[in-house]
Amino acid sequence: MKAVYFDEHGGSEVLKYGDLPNPTAGDGEIVADIHAASINGADWKVRQGSYAPVAFFPYVCGRDFSGVVTEVGAGADFEVGDEVFGVLPVGQEGTYCEKVATKAAVLAKKPAELAHIDIDAVSLIGLTAIISIEETLKLKTGEKILIQGGAGGVAGFAIQLAKHIGAYVVTTASEHNHEYVRGLGADEIIDYNAVDFTRAVSDCDAVFETVGGDIGIKSFNILKPGGRAAFIASGMKSPEPTRNDVQSLRPVVGRDRHYMERVADLLKQGVVTVPQLQIFDLKNAVEAQKISESRHLRGKLMLQIR
Ligand SMILES: NC(=O)c1ccc[n+]([C@@H]2O[C@H](COP(=O)([O-])OP(=O)(O)OC[C@H]3O[C@@H](n4cnc5c(N)ncnc54)[C@H](OP(=O)(O)O)[C@@H]3O)[C@@H](O)[C@H]2O)c1
Repeated sequence: MKAVYFDEHGGSEVLKYGDLPNPTAGDGEIVADIHAASINGADWKVRQGSYAPVAFFPYVCGRDFSGVVTEVGAGADFEVGDEVFGVLPVGQEGTYCEKVATKAAVLAKKPAELAHIDIDAVSLIGLTAIISIEETLKLKTGEKILIQGGAGGVAGFAIQLAKHIGAYVVTTASEHNHEYVRGLGADEIIDYNAVDFTRAVSDCDAVFETVGGDIGIKSFNILKPGGRAAFIASGMKSPEPTRNDVQSLRPVVGRDRHYMERVADLLKQGVVTVPQLQIFDLKNAVEAQKISESRHLRGKLMLQIR
């Protein structure tokens, strides 16, 4: 099968396009032909070596896919020909390629009316946003939330989910993205390039922080006493709070079929929309990762593999 992979950690020039062996299904696993996969921030962080060093080479990036089952291992509850999508189990990567073998239990059936590329676009971002907004922050109707980096993938899904819950949503974005995040439902938008967000918003019940660095630390300032902040771009632990009357939380983004079914339901009901997509051929994954690395994309970067 064709794949994009690296043999050593480093810059984007280490990514290669070539042939790797086809995978086979173990117990509880299926093999699928991948139709669509997405580019995520974690992909280039793994490639650079900023996460734990990878255990084997050649290493194929990619955490989510939508595709068609071609082989079913013992105990896996799908059939050949089923259209499935999902996020690979924690610790498994490898969807910048034509085929993947993975646990059936983390995948869901793709709704027939949704295109592979559209359902895959929301799989990892939806999983992360649902766990962060609903399970970690436990956002409630009438609460005020600041969602940092609203034009990004996870934050864009989170804005729509927070509005669905009935929260008041403030977000940060560069000016050229304001119309986009307003379309997602944001009530207030801060151009963080022009204004210090800590002067533009206060008294929030919750913060969902998707940017990282200083932005994370400064986010504690705008919480009301008793407020909660959840961080997904500050490493595996949430930052130490700068005050003692707020909570600092790190969502634990597990995988399970029921999350994927929820993501599909939210999309079918129109609660969330497919983000703006930029679509690349598999062999152009290098270019797509460079855009992700710039940290100023809008929506999602996708690989159309079939
Ligand atoms: N399981 C997990 O823990 C998990 C899962 C998914 C993602 N993540 C992490 O979450 C982060 C976000 O991922 P993503 O894919 O949703 O985002 P992304 O698509 O990479 O988002 C980039 C966005 O960040 C915005 N941005 C950059 N600097 C900013 C700043 N100073 N203030 C406000 N916004 C800023 C940009 O907006 P403008 O262009 O408008 O400036 C851009 O739209 C990444 O670090 C990713 O690795 C973690």
